[in-house]
Amino acid sequence: MTQRTNKIICVANQKGGVAKTTTTAYLGAALARLNKYVLVVDSDPQCNLTYSLELDEPQQEFTLENNLATIYESGQAAEDCLLRIRDNLTLIAGSSDLVMTEITLDSNPQSLAQEPERMMRNALTPFRNRFDYTIIDCPPSQGMLTLNALVASDYVIIPTLASVISLTGLERMLEQIHEIVNGDMALNPELKLLGVLLTRFRKDRNAEVEMEEKLRAVPEEFHVFKTVIPDRSQFGLLGELKTQTGKHLMDLSMVSYSLLPYLTLAMEIEKIFAPTKTSTATKSKA
Ligand SMILES: Nc1ncnc2c1ncn2[C@@H]1O[C@H](COP(=O)(O)OP(=O)(O)OP(=O)(O)O)[C@@H](O)[C@H]1O
Ligand SMILES: [Mg+2]
Repeated sequence: MTQRTNKIICVANQKGGVAKTTTTAYLGAALARLNKYVLVVDSDPQCNLTYSLELDEPQQEFTLENNLATIYESGQAAEDCLLRIRDNLTLIAGSSDLVMTEITLDSNPQSLAQEPERMMRNALTPFRNRFDYTIIDCPPSQGMLTLNALVASDYVIIPTLASVISLTGLERMLEQIHEIVNGDMALNPELKLLGVLLTRFRKDRNAEVEMEEKLRAVPEEFHVFKTVIPDRSQFGLLGELKTQTGKHLMDLSMVSYSLLPYLTLAMEIEKIFAPTKTSTATKSKA
């Protein structure tokens, strides 16, 4: 069996609208375009990731019965929820039922599992080595769904806008990661920051350029991806659910304008995990 890169990455930031879903969708598509085997997991009750993939009718029906909420709520095997989008791109769909799941996980977690923070980790473990990358889209909160994703993951990507107000979200995420790694419960000591990703970036705005410089000046383990995702109106399509986005996004045969920066990011990530002998990228957090 082919040796896979076998990395689980969650895309998290409690701040809303910082391009978590866009990053999960496009980075997943970009890695698939690079012939990697990719699983994307929609862990947000808003289900924007699931909708953005524009499933056909039989696929939509499949996701009603087989999704992340049924994994949490009825102990369904995640294996049965894998929905093939392309040969090398697979989805575990989200569901609005995840709202209730999160309430139950908060109020009566033991009713679902003995280790309620590890439910997603336990669900993904049996087949994780079948994929090069599993990418989990998190909701804009620090609740149990995000916690489960962080406990299940090897790495976190934190997308953020380059604005002062967005920095609070970034700080909170870093605190949460620190707690998960070092807290009394040691929920996931192996969790690492893969990188902070500047999204919707406008280099014609001085304040954003200054913010980028400041972030890049923070030393050591605080890694900011070299790749920056520019603000482009094409991405707006993802917000208008079920428009042309799905086809546009998944048209892996051509490199679309929107996919391009995420292809650069995918290559940056690939270098971190599979450095060539001449590469210097090994200094990154991998
Ligand atoms: N690079 C970009 N340029 C322009 N618009 C973008 C870009 N990336 C994302 N957007 C738009 O910004 C909005 C928020 O993006 P997205 O839904 O990915 O954020 P999110 O962090 O997942 O939001 P939420 O916290 O609600 O889950 C969407 O309308 C999306 O289309
Ligand atoms: Mg989202």
